[in-house]
Amino acid sequence: MTQDTSPVSTRREGAVAVLTLNSGPVNALGAALREGIRGAVAAASDDPSVRAIVLIGGGRMFSAGADIAEFGRPQSGISLPDLLNRIEATGKPVVAAIHGNALGGGLETALACHYRVAVPSAKVGLPEVKLGILPGAGGTQRLPRVVGPRKALEVIVGGSPIGAEAAAAMGLVDELAPEEGLLAHAVAFAERVVAEGRPLTRIRDRDDRIAEGRDDPGLFEAFRQENARKTRGFEAPEACIASVEAACRLPFEQGLAFEREQFLKLVSGTQSAAQRHVFFAERQTAKIPDVPEDTPARPVRRVGVIGAGTMGGGIAMNFLNAGIPVTIVEMKREALERGLRTIRTNYENTARKGRLRPEDVETRMGLLTDTLELEALAECDLVIEAVYEDMAIKKEIFSRLDRIAKPGAILASNTSYLDIDAIAGMTSRPGDVIGMHFFSPANVMRLLEVVRGAKTGKDVIATAMQTGRKVGKIAVLVGVCHGFVGNRMLAQRQREANRLILEGVTPWDVDRVIHEFGLPMGPFTMSDLAGLDIGWSPESNRSESVRDLLCEQDRRGQKTSAGFYDYDAKRRATPSRVTEEIIARVAERQGVARRPASDQEILERCLYPMINEGAKILEEGKAIRASDIDIVWINGYGWPVYRGGPMFWADTIGLPKVLERLRAYQAEYGDDFEPAALLERLAGEGKGFKDL
Ligand code: CAA
Repeated sequence: MTQDTSPVSTRREGAVAVLTLNSGPVNALGAALREGIRGAVAAASDDPSVRAIVLIGGGRMFSAGADIAEFGRPQSGISLPDLLNRIEATGKPVVAAIHGNALGGGLETALACHYRVAVPSAKVGLPEVKLGILPGAGGTQRLPRVVGPRKALEVIVGGSPIGAEAAAAMGLVDELAPEEGLLAHAVAFAERVVAEGRPLTRIRDRDDRIAEGRDDPGLFEAFRQENARKTRGFEAPEACIASVEAACRLPFEQGLAFEREQFLKLVSGTQSAAQRHVFFAERQTAKIPDVPEDTPARPVRRVGVIGAGTMGGGIAMNFLNAGIPVTIVEMKREALERGLRTIRTNYENTARKGRLRPEDVETRMGLLTDTLELEALAECDLVIEAVYEDMAIKKEIFSRLDRIAKPGAILASNTSYLDIDAIAGMTSRPGDVIGMHFFSPANVMRLLEVVRGAKTGKDVIATAMQTGRKVGKIAVLVGVCHGFVGNRMLAQRQREANRLILEGVTPWDVDRVIHEFGLPMGPFTMSDLAGLDIGWSPESNRSESVRDLLCEQDRRGQKTSAGFYDYDAKRRATPSRVTEEIIARVAERQGVARRPASDQEILERCLYPMINEGAKILEEGKAIRASDIDIVWINGYGWPVYRGGPMFWADTIGLPKVLERLRAYQAEYGDDFEPAALLERLAGEGKGFKDL
């Protein structure tokens, strides 16, 4: 019997009913699929000729879990927890047959089955924490009963999927099936269970593995402390830990009720709304209205990188990691050798930490060709220039590249501020020129701003975006303007932070407020890390700004063990009296009135102008959508995911409130705070950036 219209189809293999889930690309457990499973399980259960049931995913995977788009909407149909309780209560063995992914509610469904078989390539996990929630369909109660509280905490609070072999080793999967024969294996397994009269193992009845959580309650506190840094600011991890603790302490039904209560609290909160927004926003970045997804991309078989400094080396590593050969060019032999050494050391350090096999270090280095000749780039399909941020040098390089690069090669600049159109104008092929702005450290940070010039070809855009994704980046398309999206907004924060310290707020207070908000570091810690002398030299020094005076005293940041802060041998920062005196001197010279500011004012003055700048960026069409700006800030600057990015955050505050504060600061500090027309319009219409 096949029901083509239902998201679940049922067919028979002898006495085994095979239920196949067929709902969209990922078998998200929306209302229709839940109802389909309920009906199909009930029918198989009532059919006396059926002795066992196999649940399997059609298409790419078993299931990616609950339908995330349903959260925050009124529920229809049977709830997932109720459905799973019914599956578990079925009087015939139910076997989950897993391929692709069984994530979140997908794994919870498998845990409600009596047995689980999986192909070795399958991945299972409970990633809900990444959406600001917890596994809300029994996952926090069933998983510890199978794998013990310690492993359950790792899986649930970590949120990363694990491979089927590891899952089998911890007892989460009962048997591995051959890669190509999952269904046949699962059916045979179910027949064996029936033939041997094996009991229906209901995980809710197991107690052996959770005893550890009762005998050693300190393990939860230890886990909290070990993970404090990673979970800072997030609400969901604590709810996950408390729920696993409840699984060990309470009878199953009470544990389920505890989990439900936590789930409902989280799913209706702002953090989860923010994290769900980020999930969909990440996937939106790939969608470019006038560059459809089927735009043919150019092949990228060899990449050239100009400059073997920190940026060039980091950029090259991305491609080497993905198995793409790289030719790296420097002007001087010493600089080239230093660059190569840094790349090798980076790989060796990763190998030492066990995150790379020693032989892979050599494989990756083997893909790297080094040269002092720009002419060696003639065979590259994509060339990325990553030299010093100087327009004259960049123009010179691009006019030479124009003569060297083969026809059809993409010529990219890693500039973080400069005008891509001016650079493209130096070539006879501006359609092939694009910006690919990586963020430091370029081999680690996930963001790639792809900068579209006035004449950049659509296939060139498609290629840059796809290449970025291929090397593990989140690529966001932006337009040409000073600093593009990320640095243009950062400049707003930097200006206000500098003004605040002249008014008497200490740099440490500015940094503390920004850190407490959830960013990894405040503006002055960031400046110290980057180096205060970027763009400063004794010749250009005017002894005017705080930075000038710090650099004059050789306080150039962490690298000189002194900048805004003093640093000890272990690079621990302490507030500096010297810096405070310098600030006071500059403030006096400039006649800035010193006055206290509340933490709230510090936060607003640093972050509201960023929102305002984001609105201007949208007005000018330099970003496609507000959520793209959020993705830039989350992945390039560590904006806390649980606040959803600056534009999402603005919506949670309410645009009328943001507008009112900007106007108040404008009255006091002038037009740096002049509200963007878009912000005024949206606030006036009672809308948010989400409504654009
Ligand atoms: N709900 C709704 N839509 C989903 C979804 C889900 N759980 N998972 C994926 N999708 C959508 C994506 O948004 C995407 O849609 P578009 O094509 O319109 O952009 C489409 O399905 C394909 O997804 P990907 O592009 O991400 O495909 P992929 O092959 O790269 O990755 C995946 C597949 C690893 C499963 C990935 O989609 C993923 O991680 N999904 C989310 C998994 C998850 O977090 N599950 C937990 C859900 S919450 C839950 O289950 C709560 C509970 O306890 C009851």
